[in-house]
Amino acid sequence: MVEMDCSVCHGERGEGRAELKGPALAGLPEWYLEAQLKKFRKHARGIDPEDKSSVQMHAMAVVMKDEEIARISRLISQFKRMPSAQTVFGNALRGKSLFSAQCVSCHGPDAMGIKTQNAPPLVGYQDWYLKSQIEKFRRGSRGVHPLDTEGIEMHKVAKKLAGDQDIRDLVAFIADLAEK
Ligand code: HEC
Ligand code: HEC
Repeated sequence: MVEMDCSVCHGERGEGRAELKGPALAGLPEWYLEAQLKKFRKHARGIDPEDKSSVQMHAMAVVMKDEEIARISRLISQFKRMPSAQTVFGNALRGKSLFSAQCVSCHGPDAMGIKTQNAPPLVGYQDWYLKSQIEKFRRGSRGVHPLDTEGIEMHKVAKKLAGDQDIRDLVAFIADLAEK
């Protein structure tokens, strides 16, 4: 059942579907996919009624069994990450210095993620998705549930960002990394 259901919003090869706000999942590490699906399932993500897209994903995950989560996470992690169209514009150079100062310690110098920090790679997501998640962390729509210990770390960081321009510049820089 599961593959079909997922591809509606995440694409046949996990490339994402912008019109349904489904992020690209292809090539994400298995541990991160599993962790997020379990977070949705235990109601630690996707429960802000204002956040319609995340509520939809929550509804998908609550019915998943452990072995489905494990199997599908393995499958999606084997798909190839794909480039996506640029939709967010900002100053990538300024984004680079913001990133070095505020993000490298957890997401790594090339934004490829650091497992021991529970921080995922940021390269290969659609730019609009990155922007939306930083905004969600910033306004406390994601990363506030007591069971979401990793999200809480990210929420603290996002709260310190000065505003929209910082977010755009950061996303422009991360999107540039994906080009290489
Ligand atoms: C109705 C559309 C829809 C369907 C069907 C759907 N998803 Fe999602 N999924 C989303 C949206 C939208 C998000 C982003 C939520 C947000 O903005 O926080 C998401 C997020 C995720 C994430 C978190 C990604 C990240 O980087 O944090 C994972 C993992 C995921 N989905 C896996 C799946 C799997 C596996 C299936 C099939 C069992 C599935 N989804 C089915 C819409 C959907
Ligand atoms: C203290 C460690 C830490 C720092 C510093 C940090 N992050 Fe994160 N970030 C995380 C963790 C942990 C997660 C995963 C949260 C979860 O499990 O839901 C995350 C998740 C994210 C996500 C969501 C990805 C997805 O799949 O939905 C984005 C986007 C992000 N971080 C961007 C940034 C940016 C930009 C910065 C710098 C301004 C930054 N992070 C700094 C720890 C950190």
